[in-house]
Amino acid sequence: MNLDTPAPALAYQSGFGNEFSSEALPGALPIGQNSPQKVPYGLYAELLSGTAFTMARSESRRTWMYRIKPSANHPAFVKLERQLAGGASGAVTPNRLRWNPLPIPEEPTDFIDGLVAMVANSSPEKPAGISIYHYRANTSMQRVFFDADGELLLVPEQGRLRIATELGYLEIEPLEMAVIPRGMKFRVELLDANARGYVAENHGAPLRLPDLGPIGSNGLANPRDFLAPVACYEDGQQCTRLVQKFLGELWGCELDHSPLNVVAWHGNNVPYKYDLRRFNTLGTVSFDHPDPSIFTVLTSPSSVPGMANLDFVIFPPRWMVAENTFRPPWFHRNLMNEYMGLIQGSYDAKAEGFLPGGASLHGCMSAHGPDAETCTKAIAADLQPSKIDNTMAFMFETSQVLRPSRFALECPQLQSSYDACWASLPATFNPNRR
Ligand SMILES: [Fe+2]
Repeated sequence: MNLDTPAPALAYQSGFGNEFSSEALPGALPIGQNSPQKVPYGLYAELLSGTAFTMARSESRRTWMYRIKPSANHPAFVKLERQLAGGASGAVTPNRLRWNPLPIPEEPTDFIDGLVAMVANSSPEKPAGISIYHYRANTSMQRVFFDADGELLLVPEQGRLRIATELGYLEIEPLEMAVIPRGMKFRVELLDANARGYVAENHGAPLRLPDLGPIGSNGLANPRDFLAPVACYEDGQQCTRLVQKFLGELWGCELDHSPLNVVAWHGNNVPYKYDLRRFNTLGTVSFDHPDPSIFTVLTSPSSVPGMANLDFVIFPPRWMVAENTFRPPWFHRNLMNEYMGLIQGSYDAKAEGFLPGGASLHGCMSAHGPDAETCTKAIAADLQPSKIDNTMAFMFETSQVLRPSRFALECPQLQSSYDACWASLPATFNPNRR
C-alpha cells in the first residue's frame, strides 16, 4: 500500500437506503445479472450481505462487488498481541458519569490503536446492542480494517479523515459523520496532524432515517444529503496487513494485494456520510419544547416498536422562541440510556465541565438536567427570541443499560465531582407565594 499515490478526485452520489451503482472502468458493472460466467475485465463477483437473506425487502442490505481478487484470498487470521484499549466492562453503576476529553497519544497511533472502549450494553454476538468508543490518532493507518461485530458510526471532533473503503473514498471533518457497514474493509487516513472523535458500534439493525409521522415528508435529516462514494480501486501487488475485529478481539493476516480492489459495485449496503449542518432542526414556536427525539438523525430500531436500539441525536444551533417556558432541557429521568458527546461550543444544559471531546453517561432512571447555574439563569431570563449558536452536542441513546469499561471507570479523565453541578440547586419553594 502506498500513501504517496495521489488520491483520486472525490465524487459522490446522493441518496439513502436505495440501490446505488458505480464503476471505475467503463462497462465493469455486469448488466442484468449479478454473477455472469465471465465478469468484464476478468474481475471476480462477490456478495457482501449486511442482513440475513430472508429479511423483508425494506430491511435487506446487500452489495455486489466486482473485484480484482475475491476477499476469500487470504491466509489464516492470527490473534493480535495488541488488543483494543478499554477492554472488558467494569462494574455496573447507576451513577451519573462525565469524562474530560482523552489526550492525543504522543507515540505514533493509528485509528485502530487509538480506539478506546468506553461503554457497551451487549456482547457483539447478540443481534442487538451497541458499544461506544473514543478514537485518538496521529498517524494514518498503514493497514486495512473491518469490523465483523457491527456497523460503525464515526463522529469526528478534531481533524479531518479520509476513509478509503472497498466502495470508494469518503472525507469527513468535524460537524460531519460517516457510517461504515458491518464487515466493510476500510483504511482511515489523517488529513490533519491529529484526529479525535467518537464511534458507536451498532450490533443491531442497521441505522436508517427515522419515520417522520405528523412532521410530514420534509424535515430533520433529508435523504438527498446522505452521500455514498463512487467506485475507486487499488491495483498492484502491494502487501497489506488486514485486521478484523471479531467478537471484541483483533485478528490480523498479511495479503499480497490491497483488499480495496473493487472496480465496480451495486447495492444498498454502502458507506455514507452526512453533514450535520444540513439537519433541518425543528422545535416549538409556542411554548415548552418537544422531546429530544425531534433531533434524531438516524435510528436503529429494536424488536420493541418505538424503542430504539440506537438513536443518533444532535443538538445543533437553533433559535429559542418559546414563551413562558423553562428553555433548557428539562430535569428528567428516562427509560433510555444516554451517552453524550460534544463536537464544538458548549451545550445549553451545562454551564461548564462538559467539553468538546468529553462525554457523559446518564443511565436508565438516573436523574439529570441543567446544572444549578444554567437553571437559575433560565428561571430569571428575559424571554426574548435568542439563538443558541456555535454548538453541536450529540447523543447516542439506547434502550439497554450501558456498562462503563474498566478503563472508563479508572481513567484520570473521569470527573470525580460531577454530582456537584446539581448540589447547589436552591430550595425556592414558598407555600405563601404562588
Ligand atoms: Fe438526558
